[in-house]
Amino acid sequence: MVDGQFNADAQINIYYKNVFSEAVGEADGITASQWRELAERTTPLITWLSLERQRGHTPYRDLCEKTDVAEQVKKRAAEVEETCENLVVLGIGGSALGNIALQTALNPCMYNLDDKQRRGRPRLFVFDNIDPAQFASFLDWVGDKLDKTIFNISSKSGRTSETAAQFMIVRKLLLDRLGPEALRNQVIATTDSRQGTLRKIADELNLRCLEVPDGVGGRFSVLSAVGLFSAAMCGIDIDALLAGAKHMDKRVSCEDFYKNPAAINAAINYHFYTHGKPISVMMPYSDALKDMADWYRQLWAESLGKKVDLDRREVWIGPTPIKAMGATDQHSQVQLYREGPNDKLFTFLAVENFDNDPEIGPVPDCAPELEYLAGKKLSTLLNNEKRATEYAFLESKRPCLTVLFDRVNAYTIGQFIYLFEVTTSLAGALFNINPYDQPAVELGKEATFALMGKEGDEDFAQEIQAKTEIDEDYLI
Ligand code: PA5
Repeated sequence: MVDGQFNADAQINIYYKNVFSEAVGEADGITASQWRELAERTTPLITWLSLERQRGHTPYRDLCEKTDVAEQVKKRAAEVEETCENLVVLGIGGSALGNIALQTALNPCMYNLDDKQRRGRPRLFVFDNIDPAQFASFLDWVGDKLDKTIFNISSKSGRTSETAAQFMIVRKLLLDRLGPEALRNQVIATTDSRQGTLRKIADELNLRCLEVPDGVGGRFSVLSAVGLFSAAMCGIDIDALLAGAKHMDKRVSCEDFYKNPAAINAAINYHFYTHGKPISVMMPYSDALKDMADWYRQLWAESLGKKVDLDRREVWIGPTPIKAMGATDQHSQVQLYREGPNDKLFTFLAVENFDNDPEIGPVPDCAPELEYLAGKKLSTLLNNEKRATEYAFLESKRPCLTVLFDRVNAYTIGQFIYLFEVTTSLAGALFNINPYDQPAVELGKEATFALMGKEGDEDFAQEIQAKTEIDEDYLI
């Protein structure tokens, strides 16, 4: 994506004809009366969600209005971009997946490798894991480039052990190689404005900072400084991104169920979860969108997988989000998807116009059977493969819908992000659960602290060890 080249007319739309009983049969599709019931059930929740916003309970909804945040991000970027050849984001979950998704969607896939395609912007590395070999390899590579490298440590809480460990390694490296000034020069912390471990560290070390807005959880934070900083540094038009989200905000605020794409998306997903299809497969037919499907997986899983509902009843609820790639997984997953259990709803992501679209060359004389490919655009093949798969799914009575991108650019990506965030809120309301917390993630975090020797957690550590140590009787 090149600055300023967004097409404000570019839209995303949801095509949902193929979820109905007319397309996949009564047993597997939504009937007319079920659709009416879904509309009746969802409509008051649209109003309720607007009230929640007015009460300040969903601050992520307002990020698309925050031009001041975009300005702060650009200011920070301007401070460092002249000398920055490598930008390294240290974060995990909601502090990384959005950054990765934006970069994959909006910059060329050879961006890091090709100076020409990078147009003077820094390479981007997002480390959302603590694999020792991978991180060691990176440290080895970056060791003599530290003065041209910016580390963006991104953690709302600052106590996330993966991110903290990465930062502590990098801090030592910077201090050893470049001295104390390097922390101020080479590090930017994105964290809570008032509290948390990273806030404390940032204040103590006098780090440059960006803020995670109050009340915005990690997986809803991509349109805040969390996602915008790396995007701006890498030349993505963050104003277009926010403009796209704002455009979608209008559409998903519409009180008329039949005109509201988030309401329709949430209602469809809710229906299939409650009618024997608890698995939701997102299948992009565009490599640019492949990490958007990862971002969606976290958003959907952490938000909707809940043990208790809002009335404190145990419900153990939540659709399982799966990512599959078109056309790649036609040669891997589709056999199962057509002939395995009919327990899935499919959401294709399809792109109508690709900015770059190679033409398939002429057919070799010896292989006239390939004539049908010659001279066609790759996008024609890819989109026909999507239609072919859709047809094959319908033949097997598998319900599916499609998010259609006019084209992939910052404006449509902003729309997509906002659409799925609000869909998640509405799905949460339909399931009567809180989509903004993640209590089940905490136990694993606490157990890690204990196993790593956190003071005061000795008994807890022993309990974990007793339950997880290798029992030789079962080792083969
Ligand atoms: O969505 C979420 O809240 C989580 O996935 C967090 O983003 C993740 O656990 C990282 O947390 P933090 O930003 O506090 O390091």
